Amino acid sequence: MRNIDAQTITPAFLQRIAGCGDPRLKQVLGALVTHLHDFAREVQLTEAEWMAGIEFLTTTGQKCSGTRQEFILLSDVLGLSMLLVAQHHDKPAGCTEATVFGPFHTDDAPHLPDGADLRGGAPGTPLDVAIEVRSLDGRALADAEVDVWEADADGFYDVQHADLDHRRARGVLRTDAEGRARFTALLPTPYPVPTDGPVGQVLVACGRHPWRPAHLHFLIRAAGHETLVTHIFREGSDYLDSDVVFGVRSSLVAEMPEVAPGRHQLRQTFVLNPVMAGATP
Ligand code: BEZ
Ligand code: FE
Repeated sequence: MRNIDAQTITPAFLQRIAGCGDPRLKQVLGALVTHLHDFAREVQLTEAEWMAGIEFLTTTGQKCSGTRQEFILLSDVLGLSMLLVAQHHDKPAGCTEATVFGPFHTDDAPHLPDGADLRGGAPGTPLDVAIEVRSLDGRALADAEVDVWEADADGFYDVQHADLDHRRARGVLRTDAEGRARFTALLPTPYPVPTDGPVGQVLVACGRHPWRPAHLHFLIRAAGHETLVTHIFREGSDYLDSDVVFGVRSSLVAEMPEVAPGRHQLRQTFVLNPVMAGATP
């Protein structure tokens, strides 16, 4: 095909992938390029602007490392991560809602006994947490895996401290026969997402703040149930209505009252969605 113009380029591309043997790839790539072309036409994108875009994406890739994922951060601040959560984790009423995973989970958190203190020396106010894990019909879920992680009072996850040689403010517990688990964590405080990279520059350029409201992360796995990835946010925290990654759901906001001088408490029930026989959790 010759003499392509700003309109015929799109059907020309789609024709070029007509023989693609992977139907899903053909659908996704075809739609992506169609929207990209529409976008360039709509904003009359200049070559200089696209070059700036290429430089931004290059810097974003260069910022990534074993402990830093700038592309996930980009997806988070653009709202794409939360859009996918909303699209794929729409659970039946009564189930605990999901929210973004974020970049700070690790697979090597310590496995801790019931009642453990997972702070590991991290600075902050103690928070005594008592949780229950239940199925949608109210049945207690015994032996569920409860993976918890959070930032310290300085606003950093352990993996962000280059000089730290152990995991802290994170841990994996299992529920008892009543579906319960108890542990001591840190009273969460708001913190900014990393701003020393290209994503931070975008936030500044757009006049956006980088803050997340105070929260703890939970990843809960129980046999026969969908895995739940969620947070519990602290009632009264700043930024609940302007979370930089759009992750707050009202049902996930909980009171964490001070129950003794300098000691707070959280009681929380998580309700997991049973999977249909034959479905993958
Ligand atoms: C977090 O809550 O850990 C997080 C989520 C998205 C981007 C950055 C951090
Ligand atoms: Fe977080």
